[in-house]
Amino acid sequence: MSASILLAARGLAGSRSLANYRSRGGYRGLAKALAMEPAAVVAEVRASGLRGRGGAGFPAGVKWGFVPTDSPKARYLICNADESEPGTFKDRELILVDPHMVLEGIAIAAYAIGARTAYLYIRGEFVREAAILDEAIAEARGAGLLGRRVLGRDFDLEIHVHRGAGAYICGEETALIESLEGKRGLPRLKPPFPAVVGLFGCPTVVNNVETLACVPHIIVRGSAWFAAIGTQRSTGTKLFCVSGHVRRPGVYEEVMGISFRELIEERCGGIRGGRALKAFIPGGSSAPVLPAAKIDTPADFESVAAAGSMLGSGGVIVMDETVDMVWALENLLTFYAHESCGQCTPCREGSDWALDVVRRIRRGHGRPHDLETLRRIARYASQGMTICPLGDAFCGPIASFLEHFGQEFEAAIAGATAPPTLLPVLPLRSDRGLFDHGAGGA
Ligand SMILES: Cc1cc2nc3c(=O)[nH]c(=O)nc-3n(C[C@H](O)[C@H](O)[C@H](O)COP(=O)(O)O)c2cc1C
Repeated sequence: MSASILLAARGLAGSRSLANYRSRGGYRGLAKALAMEPAAVVAEVRASGLRGRGGAGFPAGVKWGFVPTDSPKARYLICNADESEPGTFKDRELILVDPHMVLEGIAIAAYAIGARTAYLYIRGEFVREAAILDEAIAEARGAGLLGRRVLGRDFDLEIHVHRGAGAYICGEETALIESLEGKRGLPRLKPPFPAVVGLFGCPTVVNNVETLACVPHIIVRGSAWFAAIGTQRSTGTKLFCVSGHVRRPGVYEEVMGISFRELIEERCGGIRGGRALKAFIPGGSSAPVLPAAKIDTPADFESVAAAGSMLGSGGVIVMDETVDMVWALENLLTFYAHESCGQCTPCREGSDWALDVVRRIRRGHGRPHDLETLRRIARYASQGMTICPLGDAFCGPIASFLEHFGQEFEAAIAGATAPPTLLPVLPLRSDRGLFDHGAGGA
């Protein structure tokens, strides 16, 4: 049985209206929260075990607890609706089905951390979703659920929808904050973390849409109810966005810990055309790829990490036996090389360089040392070598594709021919690479 908490209203006519949301108990959580002390709301969310659904899985209540309560500065809440990770399309679904649930989650979180202004940062391409949110905000304002003295209580809140311009990096919380401040979206060094120094230099909490959508349910039904769903350290339900070669791609709400086999074979009807599964990426394109043999891995934060990948955003990309893995990696690297913000040399140069190498392997011009070059790039541009985790985001795929499907790359190199001499052969950036001379090189 699929779980149905966040997407319970899917298929209901008029689910986006305030009247419909209220008829389903909507905004009861906000009323209940406003009758509690802010610290008690933070404690309730912490006790629920709710972990961030934007990628890193950081406990939401713990993050809220980092906001200094003795600072005279304004505090801000940001709802991250950038949804920029390839293979991820769940936040959009939540906004389309139940925008008031997202607004209620924002309002409760803002109250808990002492924010009077919240921003909903949404990717520029989500034109319709931004309009839906603007409409819902106007409706909530009209009903006294936003604005001055929310529900007659001593709490004011304004929510502003801010449309981004479609850059992947602006989903990263500090780049998002820069973008919101009107600057180019370049990530900031952490620490200080946004909870202490964030938007306009003030304490700021950034949470994903799905994370915030869980909050009204936790407040209404209690942290113990939420903590009892899923596994001990991955509580609640999770929205999985399944794409690729399955019969029924889509967004599925499941209890944390469902196996990928159940998700792919039962919910999604198995692999299209009766073919066999070759590989799957469990948590959005930056999560390391897993081979078909890992299909029985439970889909929760710990189990996916133990299997060598990440639950990430829950974007499950399924590949059947016909997929050329050299092509698949080239496809991913094309994205990352394009989206690297350029601030850190290992990421800017490394992503382009890795793409050059994989591209030439796929075109039949691979060289014997290419795999070692790729492994070295993956080593030197990840694990803290860059300001933000975009370095890890393109290195994880490289390392895992080579680990599990290295023989496909080796075969492509073994069958390589020299580049045709009549075509102009431009020197590849990878021919003289920064890492060939760097510290630690072999
Ligand atoms: C390159 C990059 C892109 C990201 N894109 C998103 C995104 O589109 N949406 C999102 O919620 N988090 C994204 N994140 C994670 C955010 O930085 C941040 O951890 C998250 O919004 C916090 O919310 P949560 O704790 O509720 O998960 C991204 C991170 C990186 C490094």
